[in-house]
Amino acid sequence: MSITPELDPFKLAQTLSGKHLIAGKFVAAAGGETFDVDNPATGAVIGTAAFGTKPDVDAAVAAAKAAQKDWAKLAARQRGKLVAECGRVLASHVEELGRLVALETGKALRTESRIEAGVLADMFTFFGGLGSELKGETIPFNPDMLTVTVREPVGVVACIIPWNVPLLLMAMKAAAALVAGNAVVVKSAEEAPLTVLRVAEIMNTVLPHGLFNMLSGFGPECGAPLVEHPDVKKVSFTGSVETGRIVYRAAAEKLIPVTLELGGKSPMIVCADADMDQAVAGALAGMRFTRQGQSCTASSRLFVHEAIHDEFVARVKAKVDAMVMGDPLDEKTDIGTIVSDGQLERVRSYIKLGEETKGATKHTCSAMPTDPKLAKGRFVQPVIFTGLKNSDRICQEEIFGPVCAVIKWSDYEEVIAQANDSEYGLAASIWTRDIKTAMDATRRLEAGFVQVNQNLVVQPGLSYGGVKTSGLGREASLESMLEHFTHKKTIIFNMK
Ligand code: NAI
Ligand code: MG
Repeated sequence: MSITPELDPFKLAQTLSGKHLIAGKFVAAAGGETFDVDNPATGAVIGTAAFGTKPDVDAAVAAAKAAQKDWAKLAARQRGKLVAECGRVLASHVEELGRLVALETGKALRTESRIEAGVLADMFTFFGGLGSELKGETIPFNPDMLTVTVREPVGVVACIIPWNVPLLLMAMKAAAALVAGNAVVVKSAEEAPLTVLRVAEIMNTVLPHGLFNMLSGFGPECGAPLVEHPDVKKVSFTGSVETGRIVYRAAAEKLIPVTLELGGKSPMIVCADADMDQAVAGALAGMRFTRQGQSCTASSRLFVHEAIHDEFVARVKAKVDAMVMGDPLDEKTDIGTIVSDGQLERVRSYIKLGEETKGATKHTCSAMPTDPKLAKGRFVQPVIFTGLKNSDRICQEEIFGPVCAVIKWSDYEEVIAQANDSEYGLAASIWTRDIKTAMDATRRLEAGFVQVNQNLVVQPGLSYGGVKTSGLGREASLESMLEHFTHKKTIIFNMK
């Protein structure tokens, strides 16, 4: 049974309201409660989501556990085929999913949301192709014994996701977990529960019911009991460092593995010999201005060599000034809104902190939308702060907003040391025409994802994840699926 795309996101938000998806069926929360989902561009309520609590978690985990047994018995390549089929079907829903995610998160449709929906489908297609790669090894242990390893699924996997790129982050976890033979319970972010629910509905037209379940709710009431559930054998989490620590502690109590994708304060080092046009474009892409800076990999610490500093900042500012802030659903819009009141408050407090930082100069970019319908929208004009030192709080703490901290540098050794002087280590980039400098920097920068002369986002097939407090484990690649969603079993046949 196929689902016809619904291109009116307001209508779709209503249709999806107030439900979890458990064992292939839409169900209300066991406690009967819901919470509101709003449109960050206007503040208006667009629908509701089921308020998940422990009984919902119990039902979803039970459904997953039951479905996983038969799923694990399927040939791995067959599982992959079904996951790839999810990718194919999701690809026919890109426009619908893009619109709905723009409506509930405030991310502009043209520059962000439609693209994210495309990557969602692509991630399922990518992992779907990897079924036959779930290989083990033969080991020359003893000539009279055949010794092999096999990859077995862990069982029920909990995926806890945030709101900034809910589709992509969910796909990286769920597609890998499913192909490896696991069943999945996803707990969506309270700020963005609807589009991932639609994805779950679509996937349940392809997959056996119970394999892929979707719960909505808040951290303490829904996320915590999911992590603590005795039948959950693995947690894959993306979110804040603070919550990551809570999840890790709870998982430690059960001694189950976790993958954590946490925050970042990624350095972008621009050398004096960099290709200026390329580096300016890279600063815009890296800072994720079109996503209001709401990205864990945002290159939010911009180190610019003093010889080009003023021109570079002026050119970045001019480009951001030319970007249009407005209704996320409007094709003309480049920059939408911050997701929630809480995040808006946080971003504003960091802008205030920047204003109060000694030596800092604030450059406010672009222009607020003038449409009166958007008067209550959570719009924040992008800000570039110059005159900062790496030790300033604004250069050390993750803001998760459109705030770029620029640090002028002159000595290469010092800039590398400063780039590494951060609790985080998610991404980093170096911009230079000199191959020796580039090579040296890629070796020395403490980060999980290092690029030269570009600032790409997560790519299917490339391991993605951080060091230091940016997290544990890797995602998006074959290796990540093998390492994080399977157990290795060693089997010895005595042939004597
Ligand atoms: P959060 O880490 O609190 O939320 C992420 C997910 O964890 C949500 O689904 C939430 O419901 C769940 N959660 C919360 N408490 C939990 C618990 N005790 N047990 C299990 N699950 C729980 O992040 P939040 O509050 O949305 O954002 C705060 C800050 O975190 C942001 O300003 C940003 O700095 C950072 N962040 C980083 C992200 C990343 O991609 N690495 C994504 C989102 C936020
Ligand atoms: Mg939180």
